[in-house]
Amino acid sequence: MPKNQITTKSSQKTKAFAKKVLRELFKLNENKNYIICLYGNLGSGKTTFTQGLAEELEIKEIVNSPTFLIMKKYKPARRRHSRMSPSLASNKKYTLYHFDCYRVSDHQEILDLGWEEIISGENNIIVIEWPEKIKEILPKERLDLKFEFVDENIRKIKFELLNC
Ligand SMILES: Nc1ncnc2c1ncn2[C@@H]1O[C@H](COP(=O)(O)OP(=O)(O)O)[C@@H](O)[C@H]1O
Ligand SMILES: [Mg+2]
Repeated sequence: MPKNQITTKSSQKTKAFAKKVLRELFKLNENKNYIICLYGNLGSGKTTFTQGLAEELEIKEIVNSPTFLIMKKYKPARRRHSRMSPSLASNKKYTLYHFDCYRVSDHQEILDLGWEEIISGENNIIVIEWPEKIKEILPKERLDLKFEFVDENIRKIKFELLNC
């Protein structure tokens, strides 16, 4: 990911960017966990970006803001053909964990959800909205994305891959 800033002009474009980001991460090392931190104000596009990730992971459930839940876990839709080649099926092996820490006041709340196990498990994509609320427990290896509202349909997204 050479460029570290992009401007999107629609929510569709933000979702397309999310898909591209995920494909780039998989190129780095396919079989690991990924921590993706989404910074930015309400309405800046964090959940929209997460919806793009879910589409790429072939998750059929609707992903929305889990504000009242703190965390929601999504599994990919079940394979229709059990003999699907590993390359075709590769995006389906991931579980998406979507955290929204907006209402979190103590990172212990996140630890209590099995955080250590989730971040050290296999094939997990861990997306965190409002990661600044839990900065004490964020792994050093992660992707940070900062979302800025420019106008109704335009968002600026800055990104930085840390220690990967
Ligand atoms: N370029 C864009 N990127 C992302 N969302 C956009 C864009 N343009 C308009 N939107 C709209 O802005 C809103 C973003 O909301 P959401 O993704 O829930 O933000 P957040 O999770 O950061 O609070 C959605 O209604 C989305 O359709
Ligand atoms: Mg949100």
